[in-house]
Amino acid sequence: MANLMLLPVILSFLILPFSAMALTQDFCVADLPRGDTPAGYPCKAHVSADDFYYNGLAVAGNTNNLFNITGTTAFVNQFPGVNGLGISAARADIGVGGVVPLHTHPAATELIFVTQGTIVAAFISSDSNTVYSKTLNKGDIMVFPQGLLHYQYNIGALPAVLLVAFSGPNPGLQITVSALFANNIPSDVLQKLTFLDDAQVKKYKSMLGGTA
Ligand SMILES: *[C@@H]1O[C@H](CO)[C@@H](O)[C@H](O)[C@H]1NC(C)=O
Repeated sequence: MANLMLLPVILSFLILPFSAMALTQDFCVADLPRGDTPAGYPCKAHVSADDFYYNGLAVAGNTNNLFNITGTTAFVNQFPGVNGLGISAARADIGVGGVVPLHTHPAATELIFVTQGTIVAAFISSDSNTVYSKTLNKGDIMVFPQGLLHYQYNIGALPAVLLVAFSGPNPGLQITVSALFANNIPSDVLQKLTFLDDAQVKKYKSMLGGTA
């Protein structure tokens, strides 16, 4: 009998933690000004529809550069609404003859959708260096597994445009030639790393903005 009388008390203790857990959080729009932390961005207190909307991919990027490309990103830093949602986007404009040089996104798988033009896209496996290469036309998609080296280049007579989806809000980007030649790795070390000769190393350093 005493046990039965205690039942409501026991139940309330059992239910309380579960009801607290049941308060699911629909989203956590990144509060960018408060800064990133090891646990991620703090959540913005007051959100509106604008936090889940971004028009920065609507405009074609300028392709007047070494690779004749522009990547326009809608990562968490530009589009704080994707914070915590395991997704982000980008737009790639690849001018005629342009190339998105060999690169990786350490923190996300990538899916491209060609909205205009004709490109070749490929990734390289890490276990056997197998190249998985395809020609893509308007409407085609291709997926690049997380962390693997990949590249794209325009083989058409018109600029190519890709809509890009990533499986994380902050995919990261490391371009291989920049990692080698856009910094201060000494030329003699780069010769060892690449088998290139001194003149070639200096040429690439000067093209990519590295220091001797
Ligand atoms: C490619 O970039 C160069 C500058 O590096 C520029 O002169 C050329 O017009 C660009 N071509 C295209 C198709 O964007």
